[in-house]
Amino acid sequence: MDFLQEIEPLKQTALAELRGALDLAALEQARVKYLGSHGRFTALMKQLGSLPKEQKPGAGKTINAVKIALEAALAERRSELELQIALPGEPTDFTLPGRRRPLGKLHPLTQVTEDIIRSFRKIGFAVADGPEVEDEFHCFDALNTPADHPARDTQDTFYLQNSESRIPNAESGSQLSTVKPQLLLRTHTSSVQIRVMEKQQPPVRIIVPGRAYRRDNADATHNPTFHQIEGLYVDRDVTVGDLKGTVEFVFKELMGPETRIRFRPHYFSYTEPSFEIDFSSSLTRKMGQEWLEIAGCGMVHPQVFENVGYDPEVWTGWAFGFGIERIAMIRYGITDIRLFYESNLRFLSQF
Ligand code: DAH
Repeated sequence: MDFLQEIEPLKQTALAELRGALDLAALEQARVKYLGSHGRFTALMKQLGSLPKEQKPGAGKTINAVKIALEAALAERRSELELQIALPGEPTDFTLPGRRRPLGKLHPLTQVTEDIIRSFRKIGFAVADGPEVEDEFHCFDALNTPADHPARDTQDTFYLQNSESRIPNAESGSQLSTVKPQLLLRTHTSSVQIRVMEKQQPPVRIIVPGRAYRRDNADATHNPTFHQIEGLYVDRDVTVGDLKGTVEFVFKELMGPETRIRFRPHYFSYTEPSFEIDFSSSLTRKMGQEWLEIAGCGMVHPQVFENVGYDPEVWTGWAFGFGIERIAMIRYGITDIRLFYESNLRFLSQF
């Protein structure tokens, strides 16, 4: 058959096969069949050389145009098939609800702690920190707590076993000479008052959020591990008025603007005079009481200043300490302290 007559039908079949390929494998087969090195179209091109000289230019032009058309059809079908593969197998229903990523939250105790810290920062207090494994000196002696004070009793304090004891030796009746101090889990954050004052000179303006430990059995209002915030302010001419004003400012921020504060005389070995702080607000009335005890405080005892090397004739100061759990329980109306430690998401996700 005449060379040029052959081209047109071949072009039509090749185009039909390329365009009709159902998948990439079929398309590749069609490419090999027509355009591969042994393909039918390639065979035609090879015949070009044997044509009479005068036919060569016309035939060459025609064949090139066909080649371009076939390659274009191949590329077009290939991208159609590739797009089909990339599309999802099933149609997307854009009216379905989205998939929500569950967001974590801060623990209610952390939230309350951060609120308290924020209030104190506004009036120039810095956050300080100290060890939870303490020694008797920082937890008791330096705070002017006598050796026979009940808080030092093994009933109340977790003592660590691998340290030497300064508790009187029962057999010899004598004090053990101590090389290593007796270690314990701090029973309050007040120990950090001493740690900070040992390290720096006045003025001191710190708060200390942290854990404390006592040998209590867990019940609705007690847990062997709990959290406190300690405050310490040392400067010249500090008064009970400064203490009361500061406490009132912070509690109003924390518990609402109609919160009232009152001080009742009390005893702590590290403050003189000492007070217990009661507060009253809609929250306390909700709990059926006008006043609720919330914290301990007082003016830093001169002996404590002596113990850290501050001159009590020059420096005055106040300190306070309160339990974070108690504040969180009142704030959120929680009646069992153990809920804070159970990691129950049904409880935690409410805050
Ligand atoms: N440490 C006391 C307690 O755990 C609280 C306290 C009372 C802290 C009076 C103080 C203070 O700094 O001055 O119950």
